[in-house]
Amino acid sequence: MYTGAMQLASRLDNLGTETAFAVSLAAADWAAKGNQVFPFHLGDMNLPTPANVVEAMDRAIADGRTGYCAAAGIAPLREALADDVGARRGLSFAPANVVVQPGGKPVIGKFIQTVMEPGDEVLYPNPGYPIYESQIEYHGGTAVPYRYIETPTGFALDLEYLAAHITPRTKALIYNDLQNPLSSESSAEEMQAVAELAIANDLWVLSDEAYFEMRYSGASHSIASLPGMQDRTVILYTFSKKFAMTGWRLGAAIAPVPVAEMIAKLNTNDESCTAHFVQWAGLEGITGDQSGPVALVDAMRSRRDATVAGVGAIAGMHTACPDATFYLFVNVTGAMHAKGFTDVAEFATAALHSTGVSFCTRRHFGRPQPGETAQYIRLAYSGIDIADITAGLGKLRDWVAS
Ligand SMILES: Cc1ncc(COP(=O)(O)O)c(C=O)c1O
Repeated sequence: MYTGAMQLASRLDNLGTETAFAVSLAAADWAAKGNQVFPFHLGDMNLPTPANVVEAMDRAIADGRTGYCAAAGIAPLREALADDVGARRGLSFAPANVVVQPGGKPVIGKFIQTVMEPGDEVLYPNPGYPIYESQIEYHGGTAVPYRYIETPTGFALDLEYLAAHITPRTKALIYNDLQNPLSSESSAEEMQAVAELAIANDLWVLSDEAYFEMRYSGASHSIASLPGMQDRTVILYTFSKKFAMTGWRLGAAIAPVPVAEMIAKLNTNDESCTAHFVQWAGLEGITGDQSGPVALVDAMRSRRDATVAGVGAIAGMHTACPDATFYLFVNVTGAMHAKGFTDVAEFATAALHSTGVSFCTRRHFGRPQPGETAQYIRLAYSGIDIADITAGLGKLRDWVAS
């Protein structure tokens, strides 16, 4: 914290962060000392962006698409996103519903600024992506966590708990089906129940669909597709995962027109526009050859299988086999007990120093809630090859057993 004579704005006291970046630093530090690190902490990918997308960007630069463009995005990309996002969800969107963003993440803060008054309550998933909590509190709202229950097939939303935490001050609900870090997916009944709560209590919904197309079997569904939901839902769309474009910074808000217009106005204030040539590359991603994203999902499916198998061989750890995302949220209560740990952060540090396996823990995904007793870690398999998945989890198995 700054301690000099100049005062920083007090609102910054409410700004959170992604504490998972500290795990990257610890892993880099351990690697710099000459140790092998197995990077299960990265929510990033070690696979290249499809060549046709890269070539489209080169072409766009050569064609001089390097100046400012419209705040809401270039017309062809808005049109392509309206068609593609709509078709995959059984919905009809117009370009006016689409506001291009530098990544999916900016949609979170812009949604909150658009629909939430200071003092309003916003429900958000916990464990969940930590930026929800940060942005709600930074903009003067009250972040109200809702929770999940572990089942043999994954994590189910605690609907009773969610309903019990809706008050007259509740303005919005953040919903992340195909969830980071849980990899959970709502059943049709669960999604319907969430939609009914949103409608009955007149809530705005942010549907974070960052992993909508990062799935290995079955089909993804959007809460925006349920009756009565499209007009109250903002979809967070990103190119980051599907096209391995995390560093390009390209995404979009798909929103009811009045919300979209306000988000475009925030764009004008915040960044003027998303990088012009990057948008042309994104257009090629959506409309061009799809072999890149297909190969990417195939690679992730094989990694998922290797990671699930590796965890299955470790005494005192268990996980379901999710159909989507690239995370496993692993119950490590038994393994921690066997090794004599009560603190999951200490367990993570000891695992790193004993095996080189680096991972985030439950603590990186929102403030733990009262009554939590089970211990969890998150294994991300998007940034690690199968040989290293198998080798790293083998070392973890031997260490836990020792
Ligand atoms: C649930 C969730 N939402 C949003 C994002 C943000 O994605 P982007 O890289 O497009 O900003 C992420 C990134 O990991 C995520 O996991």
